[in-house]
Amino acid sequence: MSKLLFIQTLGCAMNVRDSEHIIAELKKEDDYILTDDISKADLILINTCSVREKPVHKLFSEVGGYEKVKKDGAKIGVLGCTASHLGKEIFKRAPYVDFVLGARNTSKITKAINSPKFISTDINYDDSEYAFGEFRSSPYKAYINIMIGCDKKCTYCIVPQTRGDEISIPLNLILKEVQKVADNGAKEVFLLGQNVNNYGKRFSSFHEKIDFSDLLVKISEVKGIERIRFTSPHPLHMDDKFLDVFTNNDKICKSMHMPLQSGSSAILKAMKRGYTKEWFLNRALKLRKICPEVNISTDIIVAYPGESDADFKDTIKVVNEVEFEQIFSFKFSPRPLTPAANLPLIDDEIASKRLTFLQNRQNEILDKIMQNQVGKIFDVYFEELRPNMQVSGRSFSNFNVLANGTEELLGRTKKVLIKSAKRMVLDGEIIS
Ligand code: 5AD
Ligand code: SF4
Repeated sequence: MSKLLFIQTLGCAMNVRDSEHIIAELKKEDDYILTDDISKADLILINTCSVREKPVHKLFSEVGGYEKVKKDGAKIGVLGCTASHLGKEIFKRAPYVDFVLGARNTSKITKAINSPKFISTDINYDDSEYAFGEFRSSPYKAYINIMIGCDKKCTYCIVPQTRGDEISIPLNLILKEVQKVADNGAKEVFLLGQNVNNYGKRFSSFHEKIDFSDLLVKISEVKGIERIRFTSPHPLHMDDKFLDVFTNNDKICKSMHMPLQSGSSAILKAMKRGYTKEWFLNRALKLRKICPEVNISTDIIVAYPGESDADFKDTIKVVNEVEFEQIFSFKFSPRPLTPAANLPLIDDEIASKRLTFLQNRQNEILDKIMQNQVGKIFDVYFEELRPNMQVSGRSFSNFNVLANGTEELLGRTKKVLIKSAKRMVLDGEIIS
C-alpha cells in the first residue's frame, strides 16, 4: 500500500531542490505519495532554513503543531540547514522528532527513516558525485545543482557551517542531467549553487579545468534547452568573461542576481565580502551598459553591527544608481557560529527605520520600472495556472507576466504585449 508524505520546505531554491531529492530517494524505497494533509501523513518532514533567526523559530512552532495532529505511528523528521546547526538540540527541544538530517546529508534519508533517533549533520560528507534525484515538482523548469557548500567567510552568514566547503559537481554529470530534463520536456534549467560563478574551483576527484562561463556555454549547447537561469552568483567573481558570455549567449536569461549586502565599503570590509562599493557599481553599471535588457536583483542587509547613518546612506546611493528590479532586504540577524554573532547590535528602532526607508525607496523605483514596461512585447514562458482562466510565466529578463489562457499554454513561449503594470506583476495580452 502506498504511504503518504507531507513535506514542508522553508528557505531557498537549494532547499527546494533538496526536498525534491529527498522525495526521489523515498520513492525508490516505497510507494510514497505527497499529501497536504498532515493528519493523514505516514511521514512528516520539514526542510529548514537557518539563515536568519525567524525561520529557526518557525521550525519549532511548526513541529509542535505536527505533533498535535499527526496520526499514531507517523514519523517526524527535521532536515536542512537548522538540522545541521542545531543537531542533537532539536531532540532536546522537540523530543517527538524522530530523526535529524543536515543539509549535506539528504541522500541518507532512507537510513534515517529506518533507524531510531537517527542523526547525521556531517558537513564534510561529499555528495557532489551522488546521482541527481529523479523527482521534479515542475515539468517546465528543472533545478540543477552545480555545486554544494560555500568557501566564503562572510561574517554574518551561517551557511558555510550548515552546508560545508564548496565542491563543484563534475561537468559530465551536470550535462547528462540537463539532457535528461530536456528530453523530459523542460525547456528551462535553473542552475543552483551558493557561489555559482566560482564553479570549477574544487572538485572531489580529478577534473579538467573549467569555469562557470564555460559551463554556461556547454549547457546552452544541450539540445532542447531554451532558457538558462542561475543563482547565486557573487559580485566578486563577475569578471569580464562572465559578463560577456552572460550578455551574448542567447540561451542565458537576462536576469542577474548581484547580492550587494551593503553599499558602504567599510561595512563590506567588515562583512569580509571581498569587494568595494566601487567594484560593485563598476560591474552593475557595465552590465546595464552591455546588456540593456537585464533585470538586476539584489540582497541587502541593513543595520549590520557598526553601520552608521553615513554607511546606510551609501547603500541608498547604490540603490539609486543601479535601480535594481528587485531587492530582498533584511535586518541583520545575529547567527550562532558566525564571526558577527556577538557584535553589538544596532538599536532595533533604528534598524527598522532603515529597513522601511530602503523598502519604500525601492517601491518607488520599482513602480517606475514596472510602468515603463507597458507597451513592450516580451517572450513569456508560461509555467503556472492562475485563477480566473489566467496563466503566469516569466519574460526572458524575469518579469512576472500574467495573461488570459488555459493549460495548453503551459510549457510554451508566447509573445505578450504588456497592457498594464502592478508592482509585482505585468498584465499582458498574447499576440502570437
Ligand atoms: N542576517 C540577515 N540577513 C542575512 N542573510 C544572510 N545571513 C544573514 C543574517 N545573519 C541574507 C543575505 C543573503 C540572503 C540569502 O540572506 O542578504 O544574501
Ligand atoms: Fe538556503 Fe541558506 Fe537558508 Fe540554508 S541557510 S536553506 S542555504 S538560505
